[in-house]
Amino acid sequence: MKVAWVVATLVAQCTAVTISEINGNRYLSTYQGKNVSGVEGLVTAKGSAGFYLRSTSPDHHHKASKSIYVYGKSAVAQVSVGDIVTLSGEVAEYRSSSAYVYLTEITSPTGIEVASSDNKVTPLVIGHGRLIPPTNQFSSLDGGNVLGVPNNASQISHRNPILAPSKYGMDFWESLSGELVTLPGLHALTKPNQYGDTWVLGDWPATGQNQRGGLTMRSGDSNPEAIIIGSPLDGSKNPTDTKVGDIIADITGIVTQAYGYYALLPLSALTVTESNTTDASPTQLVSDGSCSALSVGSYNVENLTPNSTHLSKIADHIANYLKSPNVVFLQEIQDNTGASGDGVVASNVTLTTLTRAIKNQGGPSYSFIDIPPIDGQDGGEPGGNIRVAYLYDASVVQLRNAHPGNSTDAATVLPGAELNYNPVLLDPTNTAWDSSRKPLAAAWETLDGQNRFFTVNVHFSSKGGGSSIQGDARPPVNGGIGQREAQARVVADFTAAVLAEDEDAKVIVSGDFNEFAFVKPLKVFVAESGLQDLDEVAGIAKTERYTYIYDANCQQLDHMFVSEALAAEAQMEHVHVNTWVSYDDAASDHDPTVAVFNVCA
Ligand SMILES: *[C@@H]1O[C@H](CO)[C@@H](O)[C@H](O)[C@H]1NC(C)=O
Ligand SMILES: *[C@@H]1O[C@H](CO)[C@@H](O)[C@H](O)[C@H]1NC(C)=O
Ligand SMILES: *[C@@H]1O[C@H](CO)[C@@H](O)[C@H](O)[C@H]1NC(C)=O
Ligand SMILES: *[C@@H]1O[C@H](CO)[C@@H](O)[C@H](O)[C@H]1NC(C)=O
Ligand SMILES: *[C@@H]1O[C@H](CO)[C@@H](O)[C@H](O)[C@H]1NC(C)=O
Ligand SMILES: *[C@@H]1O[C@H](CO)[C@@H](O)[C@H](O)[C@H]1NC(C)=O
Repeated sequence: MKVAWVVATLVAQCTAVTISEINGNRYLSTYQGKNVSGVEGLVTAKGSAGFYLRSTSPDHHHKASKSIYVYGKSAVAQVSVGDIVTLSGEVAEYRSSSAYVYLTEITSPTGIEVASSDNKVTPLVIGHGRLIPPTNQFSSLDGGNVLGVPNNASQISHRNPILAPSKYGMDFWESLSGELVTLPGLHALTKPNQYGDTWVLGDWPATGQNQRGGLTMRSGDSNPEAIIIGSPLDGSKNPTDTKVGDIIADITGIVTQAYGYYALLPLSALTVTESNTTDASPTQLVSDGSCSALSVGSYNVENLTPNSTHLSKIADHIANYLKSPNVVFLQEIQDNTGASGDGVVASNVTLTTLTRAIKNQGGPSYSFIDIPPIDGQDGGEPGGNIRVAYLYDASVVQLRNAHPGNSTDAATVLPGAELNYNPVLLDPTNTAWDSSRKPLAAAWETLDGQNRFFTVNVHFSSKGGGSSIQGDARPPVNGGIGQREAQARVVADFTAAVLAEDEDAKVIVSGDFNEFAFVKPLKVFVAESGLQDLDEVAGIAKTERYTYIYDANCQQLDHMFVSEALAAEAQMEHVHVNTWVSYDDAASDHDPTVAVFNVCA
């Protein structure tokens, strides 16, 4: 009886708990919503609305973070970095969106008592001892593939998995939540996002590194070893002109979870100590004007209008970096009045302005062709009516029996692999293209009519509506994946029909697929189209396959796929005119691609 009475009293009084016990070895604290007291720790850093406390109690929970955020504006002034304090408070799980992972914290701290001051504060060092981030997997809930389907099969907040910090990147950073760490030997993996946050890699093991110093997303490797640097705790601002590969001075700061990512909040702003000034080189893949070396370029020119400030840079890229390909596949050409919802759908002024600028930059006098969309039906910036379009050098190639279809005419492959219209949209009324750009097919020939080839210019649905790669949904939601799969099937049906009429047909499908080669929509496309991934065919190193940067990763949204008849002598290059430069210097969010083919009959 007496023993039971003692235990009951201790529980009622809320015995002292350690920070490790509060955090536990899972994502969510078993103390959530409970009051705790006698929590002892060393103040390692302060922010404007709280401070960070590291346990001073010995414990055996090596998977649980030994540090925690104490949230409470008025408490900040009561402590100094280096104080050992005890306090009481309520354990809470906080997130600003239901799509994010929770941060465990102590709120409403009371009874703060400073036991001693000026204690030494030593950051842990990432890359030392056990503190090596995993390089491939994000979460035990991803079924081995962070890009796998079905998306959002489970949620961290629901399953609350046991942390395995040596296996899963999110678990690694979660096991350091609230901890003061130093990141040594850093370089930038990206330019900053709109908030000035930059992803970095330090002196620890990494996979997927490219020659520029970025990390390239590859099959089975989406790089959880990277971490994003958030807003400095002292209120200073990170630079906004950081570039991929920039060397950054060592950073000390706090590991936290915010806005859907594990982030490091530096004590003060990051500093770039060395920057790579080497520009992207102009391509060596140049047309010789004959059927044996015909060049093709592809470029998402990001909402191009006649008065876009980036138009002259785009023209420079096409003329001087892509060396004026004979045919250029463009995506995101807006109508003549840009993003004003005035019913205008024609883009001849946009395309004339661009082709004149290319000529002024030393390029040829390009001709152009597109099929204007029905107003407001194809998604993208409201009023802009983005569409795909071709530029072509009419001194080298021509449309075969030019006879353009309209915005609702669908391509049919006739006997002898002739098209009913040229150019023509692929099944434009299929629901696969709802609120999305319709693919534009064309049949081309050299001026003597002897050498034919087909092209399809695509711009699949975006990843909009997706969830963070480090978010609550596992695997994360890859926005639009189902629609892109349906789109891939429509385009594949067309190329398969061309190849059924002529197995030696020369076919190029290129553009912005908004998807990676190793994710379901493009796996379906390769399986059903009869085409091959040109990066594979041309032997581009897997780490150099990128045209875009998102989160920590250099990644490839833009692809070319070709038929067997074009594969043998094909060469290709991704020209990094935009991913390498600072945000302000970029002309588009995508890099262009150029390729050379033998199209001789
Ligand atoms: C925690 O403590 C606060 C302040 O003393 C009190 O208002 C609250 O009711 C307590 N909560 C629980 C769950 O005991
Ligand atoms: C994931 O599914 C859960 C449960 O159905 C839902 O509450 C949540 O909103 C979904 N998350 C996302 C990002 O779609
Ligand atoms: C600069 O970039 C070039 C091209 O990617 C690369 O080859 C070189 O190694 C980089 N230099 C440094 C110092 O990182
Ligand atoms: C470009 O023109 C559109 C409408 O024609 C206008 O809304 C926009 O402000 C202009 N942009 C610039 C940069 O002049
Ligand atoms: C654009 O097309 C309209 C209608 O066909 C024509 O009047 C106008 O001159 C064209 N503008 C340019 C720059 O080609
Ligand atoms: C496109 O042309 C077809 C005839 O080929 C016609 O029936 C249809 O109404 C036209 N669509 C539009 C949007 O002009």
